[in-house]
Amino acid sequence: MRPPGTFPRLFGALLLVAGAGAGCFAGDGGGSRQGSGGPAPGAVPALGRVVPAPASVKPGGTLYTLGAKAAIRVDDSPEVRRIGEYLAGILRPSTGYALPVTPGPGTDGVQLRLRPSERALGEEGYRLESSAGTLAVTAREPAGLFHGVQTLRQLLPAAVERRTLQTGPWTVPGGTITDTPRYAYRGAMLDVARHFFTVDQVKRYIDQLAVYKINTFHLHLTDDQGWRIAVDSWPALVTVGGSTSVGGGPGGHYTKAQYREIVDHAASRYMEVVPEIDLPGHTAAVLASYAELNCDGEARPLYTGVDVGFSSLCVDKPVTYDFVDDVIREIAAITPGRYLHIGGDEADSTSPEDYAAFMAKAQAAVARHGKTVVGWHQIAGSEMAEGSVAQYWGTDGTEPGEREEVAAAVKKGARLILSPADRAYLDMKYDSGTQLGLKWAGLVGVDRSYDWDPSEYLADAGVPADAVLGVEAPLWSETLTTSAQLEWMAFPRLLGVAEKGWSGARSWEEYRVRLAEQGPRLEARGVVYHRSPKVDWPE
Ligand code: ACM
Repeated sequence: MRPPGTFPRLFGALLLVAGAGAGCFAGDGGGSRQGSGGPAPGAVPALGRVVPAPASVKPGGTLYTLGAKAAIRVDDSPEVRRIGEYLAGILRPSTGYALPVTPGPGTDGVQLRLRPSERALGEEGYRLESSAGTLAVTAREPAGLFHGVQTLRQLLPAAVERRTLQTGPWTVPGGTITDTPRYAYRGAMLDVARHFFTVDQVKRYIDQLAVYKINTFHLHLTDDQGWRIAVDSWPALVTVGGSTSVGGGPGGHYTKAQYREIVDHAASRYMEVVPEIDLPGHTAAVLASYAELNCDGEARPLYTGVDVGFSSLCVDKPVTYDFVDDVIREIAAITPGRYLHIGGDEADSTSPEDYAAFMAKAQAAVARHGKTVVGWHQIAGSEMAEGSVAQYWGTDGTEPGEREEVAAAVKKGARLILSPADRAYLDMKYDSGTQLGLKWAGLVGVDRSYDWDPSEYLADAGVPADAVLGVEAPLWSETLTTSAQLEWMAFPRLLGVAEKGWSGARSWEEYRVRLAEQGPRLEARGVVYHRSPKVDWPE
């Protein structure tokens, strides 16, 4: 639990960073950079120096060189052609090559091919073969091809990521990578409630997540400070509840068409969107929008502070459940993904009995509208339906009783997403000099965020490894207002969480070498990142 009153320096920090743009958000030990630099033209990373680490790497043979006459050869299907165009879109500006995307077989360039018989590659795996004359990515499903393309871009020199003409040669080390993920769920969350982020900002973040094979994008759409998604049957949720943000700044919301645009963009990056409607707490924006949803029938004022745990829907009123059903029905209808997240965290103003009764009804509404429930792990304090999912956000200091409650839910069939706040929360400060972010879960340096194993994390409480569906890296936005700030907090820690989700256990010492090589790549893509002093970034 986030203790109350832990934000005394927040507004000072907000003032400090206002207008900082893409500048340095650290007081000491590291900064951010964008612009010139990167490895010498033509520097070739060794096969397998990829994040997340591939499952099997067999270096050998002659390197492949992408030439000016190369084509991108694709299976004759619209989806594979689209992946080919995506790859061409990455390669054309920096190489200056035409790279036509051409259906049909051929060995005159990069081949992207689906082979349904390759059962071992599963839904997301791929094989990348590189030698003097051939560069082929093979997968069973399109998602696997897409992930293989992400590996390919990391095997080319970092300058390939730039959007202006660069000098080659454009080489890929020789050998074979065969790769499948450890976990089916590899998520990242963005809080668009505390501060609002536009569709374009969200798409930009999604594009960067895709590079590291994240396949789930969780949108935290509602909180005390703002309701960010239009609901036709309750229009004041956005006109009133979406009108402001932390600190009293401008609000914002997505129309349903804009939400669909985000969902479609995520799908084009093989990412499923999980919308979150946080209930029954974190609802001050709801209680400000509709008087009748308050137990005393009086609307509350809009809230622009950063406390938690003070708001609750009125559990005894029938209209509360009309509201819940309407919202869940409308959000489910515009969400093609399997999951609907109903929050359930920090409901400190709801009694445990009321909480259990409310969450039972909210979960029933999610099931009625055809989705699988996800909730923050406090949802284990209510009866969880078989197959529903608890998202664990405790820390090393979380009470054993709370961990055991989660383990008990798992025994009854719940599954787990792991987001331990002292490892996977991207809004925690890196070190004592970090101006952005919070520190209620401690300082989370790049090494600490990598120092955990999802299958072991709750083993001592009795959670078996096979209950873990995967991992997720949440990014809360109380202190964050720009894309540069989001990126500086997310990168490079997001890469470590992505690797926890995709790869088996590796050592920090091995990882930090691969991570260092991502610096010039992030920079070439124009991504602001924290130059942690714990990593030997190349100059
Ligand atoms: C949370 O950080 N309140 C899930």
